Formats: sequence, structure tokens, C-alpha cells
Amino acid sequence: MKKFTCVQDAGPLDIALAMAAEVKANPFADSHLGKNKTLLMIFFDSSLRTRLSTQKAAMNLGMNVIVLDINQGAWKLETEKGVIMDGDKSEHILEAIPVMASYCNIIGVRSFARFESKANDYNEVILSQFIKYSGKPVFSMEAATRHPLQSFADLITIEEYKTVARPKVLLTWAPHPKALPQAVPNSFAEWMNETDYEFVITHPKGYELSPDFVKNAKVEYDIEAAYKGADFVYAKNWSVFSDPNYGQILNIDRSWMVDSRKMQLTNNAKFMHCLPVRRNMIVSDEVIDGPDSIVVQEAANRVVSAQVVLREMLKTL
Ligand code: CP
Repeated sequence: MKKFTCVQDAGPLDIALAMAAEVKANPFADSHLGKNKTLLMIFFDSSLRTRLSTQKAAMNLGMNVIVLDINQGAWKLETEKGVIMDGDKSEHILEAIPVMASYCNIIGVRSFARFESKANDYNEVILSQFIKYSGKPVFSMEAATRHPLQSFADLITIEEYKTVARPKVLLTWAPHPKALPQAVPNSFAEWMNETDYEFVITHPKGYELSPDFVKNAKVEYDIEAAYKGADFVYAKNWSVFSDPNYGQILNIDRSWMVDSRKMQLTNNAKFMHCLPVRRNMIVSDEVIDGPDSIVVQEAANRVVSAQVVLREMLKTL
């Protein structure tokens, strides 16, 4: 694997899931693979789970890890080509990328949507420059449009907890006070659409995701019908995708919060969220603290998804 930015990079999902089961059963089986190899993790945005789980995965494989928080101690980076650098940005990403690449064997990048330009966000201007100019295997630790390590962990978790062969998986929008990117729901949809699950998306009108990610998923605007019979409820907030309101919040309708009343419509659904989550905005305390919440197990599987990706990249070095 030379790149991991979307579901296609994972290859056939049955094989990816078999690898995940292998890694989970014996996390130190490949600890020789990373000897004298260095992972560089570059964060343009904050993280708890991605930072720790990816570092843990690299350590399980015997790798050295360097972490750079671009906004804490690094030179401010210019990412646009052809600009006169007379502002506050001291270094261009065109030099910074090959320099950083010279210190490592594999690069992970986190760079969220900026909401300044939909074209820049959906063309992944930062991640794609790392792929183009680093000469090293690159994986996304959440980019502007996708969060594939999260979606892979979500799939692993659903496979572990499903009680029927073809579960009904509901992705529901939930309220949040700040404008959030579409990366997690886009990516979740992209991965669910590669399974044979019954996949349903529900959200208030105006929050339609890109058709490139929704594809043939059922979009159900009747929230009760959406929850009915669900085996998994995956909650996430996202901002508007459509023009002219790209990146904006239309409403903070708290009736969309995941609560016990809605969960009672389901088939004893498991509750999932990528975290961090705002309690009593996205989900009630009762649901997230209840026996059907699997958010911690889901987060724990982030080590597994990262370790599969790093293992397959190390094999190509
Ligand atoms: N789910 C997730 O990516 O968490 P962090 O933002 O804390 O890394």
C-alpha cells in the first residue's frame, strides 16, 4: 500500500477485515517490520484518538515516531502556489514537504476542511501535495473530505458487534454549535456503500451530503422511519455541503439529538460516534452511558485500522 486516503486504497474489504482480525489477535506479530523505520505524523489540526492510536500502532510494529504540530512551534506554512510571501507565512509547503519526507519513511497527515474554498477542500489541496511531493507512502489522518482510518475502524466495529448478516446501519445528523466538516459522514458513507449492509442516512433538509458519497444509500427525511429497525445508529454533525451555504450551519435543531426515545424505535441498536462528542447536543447522557453504546470500543479499534495500514505500507519499503 503506497497511499491510504479513501476506501479504494484499502483493497477488497473482506481481505482488509481479515487483516484487522489478524492484527487484533496478535498485535506484536509484525514488530520486526518497523525496525529502523520512522513514521512522521503531521497535524494541521487537533487530535486525541488519531494521534495516540496511530502512534500506538506504529510502536506495535517497532517503528520510531516523530510528531509535528504545525500550529505549535513550526513555521507558519504557505500552501498556495505562486503567491508573494510578504505576509505572516515564513515557509512554503513546497520546500517543507520534501524536507520533512527526508526525515522519515511513512507520512501521516491531518488537515481538515478550511471552508474558505469548497474547490480547495474537495480537491484536498494539502493532502494531495504531500502525496505529490514527498516521495513517501502517505496516509490520511483525516483530510478535508474523508477520514478513512476512522471509517475502517467503524467497519471493524460493526463487524464485531453485528447480530444479523446484513444489519441496518443508520447515519444520522445531530446538532452541534460549530460548523464541522463533512469528512466523517462522507467517509462513513463511502465505506458503508462498499458493504452489503442496509445503509440509511437521515438529516434535516439542507444538509444533503455530496452525491459522490451518498451514491445509492437511502436518504430518509422521516426520522422515525429512519431509526425504525436500525441495528447501528452512527451519529455525526456536519455543516452544509451545497452552494451557496457550503460550510455553514442552517440550524441547531436539538430535536435531532440521539436520545432514548429514538433508540427505542431501533432493533436494540448499538450507538456509535467517532468522538469527540458533545453530550446532550449530539447524544443524551442516557444513550452514551447506556449498555448499547460502543463508542469506546470503536475508538479502541483505531489502533487496529492504523496498524493494518502501516503494516501494509511497511511491506512496500
Ligand atoms: N475520531 C477522531 O479522529 O478523533 P480525534 O479527532 O481525537 O483524533
